[in-house]
Amino acid sequence: MKKKVVVFASGNGSNAQKIIDRFENSEKIEVSAIFSNKAEAFVVERAKKHRIKCIIFSRKDFYEDAVVAKHLKEIKPDLIVLAGFLWLIPHEMTLKYKNKIINLHPALLPKYGGKGMYGMNVHKAIIENKETESGITIHYVNEKYDEGAIIFQDSVNIDGEDTPETLAEKIHQLEHKHFPEVIENLLK
Ligand code: GAR
Repeated sequence: MKKKVVVFASGNGSNAQKIIDRFENSEKIEVSAIFSNKAEAFVVERAKKHRIKCIIFSRKDFYEDAVVAKHLKEIKPDLIVLAGFLWLIPHEMTLKYKNKIINLHPALLPKYGGKGMYGMNVHKAIIENKETESGITIHYVNEKYDEGAIIFQDSVNIDGEDTPETLAEKIHQLEHKHFPEVIENLLK
């Protein structure tokens, strides 16, 4: 039986796309569902285009009514992948899926992590602080933002010409290159 991956994403979903592409013809791994808290997010279009089940949920579904938990219980994923998903994962979920939830963060944790540190906010802070490098971190998810054990990191240089936008582009390239491969390795 194929290993099952589910992806949580709230936005564009370029990383979700790379994951879908990587496993579309795989005999070992499948993307079983995309979960999104935003019905209008582009990642939802991507899921539809690839005929992948898409589950849209509200804050209440997630934190109070265990709607997401019920879907997960049915799917029984081998890995839950957060790819641009910003809500804190409920404690029970982190316990039930211990070492089965991973997150992608657009900086070199433990620097530039925590609540509010996501997407362009991270890149703006890094450029403002005149850092000379940044990178990506893939880590297990626990009950605190960005604090679970680190699985993988890779870095990029920042030069004087870089802006938050050019840094974001460099980081996306790094994410697209490594994230699907790290997922595949974890499922071996
Ligand atoms: C990615 O850069 C990811 O690292 C970041 O959101 C972006 C989603 O891009 N995640 C965080 O900031 C989590 N704290 P995408 O929608 O194009 O995949």
